[in-house]
Amino acid sequence: MKVLIIGSGGREHALVSKVAENPSVDVVYCAPGNGGTYRESKCENINITKMDELLEFAVKNKIDITIVGSEEWLVQGIVDKFNEKGLKILGPCAKAAKLEGSKAYSKEFMKKYGIKTAAYEVFENDKEAIDYLKNCEYPIVIKADGLAAGKGVIICNDFVEAEKSINDFMVLDIFKGSGKKIIIEEFLEGVEASILSITDGKVILPFVSSKDHKQIFDADKGPNTGGMGAIAPNPYCTKQVLDEFYKNILLPTLKGIQNEVMDYRGIIFFGIMITKKGVYSLEYNVRFGDPETQAVLPLMKSDFVGLVKAAIDGELKNFNLEWKQGYSCCLIAASKGYPGSYSTGYEISEVGKLEGKLFLAGAVGDKGTMRTNGGRVLGVTGFGGTLEKAREIAYADMKKIKFDGMYYRTDIGK
Ligand code: AMP
Ligand code: GLY
Repeated sequence: MKVLIIGSGGREHALVSKVAENPSVDVVYCAPGNGGTYRESKCENINITKMDELLEFAVKNKIDITIVGSEEWLVQGIVDKFNEKGLKILGPCAKAAKLEGSKAYSKEFMKKYGIKTAAYEVFENDKEAIDYLKNCEYPIVIKADGLAAGKGVIICNDFVEAEKSINDFMVLDIFKGSGKKIIIEEFLEGVEASILSITDGKVILPFVSSKDHKQIFDADKGPNTGGMGAIAPNPYCTKQVLDEFYKNILLPTLKGIQNEVMDYRGIIFFGIMITKKGVYSLEYNVRFGDPETQAVLPLMKSDFVGLVKAAIDGELKNFNLEWKQGYSCCLIAASKGYPGSYSTGYEISEVGKLEGKLFLAGAVGDKGTMRTNGGRVLGVTGFGGTLEKAREIAYADMKKIKFDGMYYRTDIGK
């Protein structure tokens, strides 16, 4: 079997490594991949970054299954294009990808289907938004409607900060169109959880819960990043929380997907906030999370390729999704300066054997030297019977890896 994975991050390395575990997979192509996917024995990196060329490659090479990493491809309709050619691909059609591609649309969807979410207003005019902000309670949350590479949400502590965000988003247009429409949302206080799930449009099967660590510094200080580490399962996701999530968020979401007649055979990742007033839906992502995937996928006991096939073929109902016992802890090492500007090209060295798993992200190289070429450079995932043990392994492994300007948080999963 031939599998194509589209993307180049730590998430995609984790996907390649999981797919390669299936003995019937002969080759995994990763477009464009990174230094880590290059090193995987069954993987071949292919230097293609255009949609039409990916499609042509998949047709020509008779790819059996394609898995898409990033939301941008999904929002641009890659699934529709592959389906038109009769190719199997995991992901939502463009209409369903709007659940991530437009925050105004996803909030409207949540409202329509009675999904518990923060109160909000949508604005397309900066003056009206600023007038509204004059009478709000703070903190308040301002969100760009469109995709903004994880940077489009600002928590504003007072009117001055809020006015500045409106100006940045709507007037200065820092997100090149994505912030022309904005959402002003009630601030929710609580603990976040990421629930990656898979759907065939008939059922949604949630994966083991996880927790991202978004801020750059320890104790959740500093600006937001793509994610500096993840643990799974999320200790805050008690049975009661998960039951509430299932009833008030997952089931009505499935009903919405069906009522809106969306072709959704892919990953749906629920961002939730566990508060004193119950479990709220923060957002939908229509793809795997990064770094969550690096913590969650290694815990999957069932055959991942079989699961993906079942989703694409509409047969998830009969799939027995099983998880390994224990915990995982994924630490991300970033380049100094990230999420701001940083330099690249530093050699990455490994001293001694790692006990956990290494997933490379912003790293290029071949079987010889590996060099940094991105903000989030790599992740190491440790496993253990307890979260403490998983953390211990991840931190011990990280000490064996070095590159100039290497930075990682010291409190992931603490
Ligand atoms: P989103 O892309 O909507 O998940 O927002 C990115 C991050 O902003 C979330 O992971 C939360 O940390 C934070 N956030 C979003 N919405 C809210 C909210 N209503 N209240 C508090 N924090 C929020
Ligand atoms: N780690 C958050 C995300 O993938 O969106």
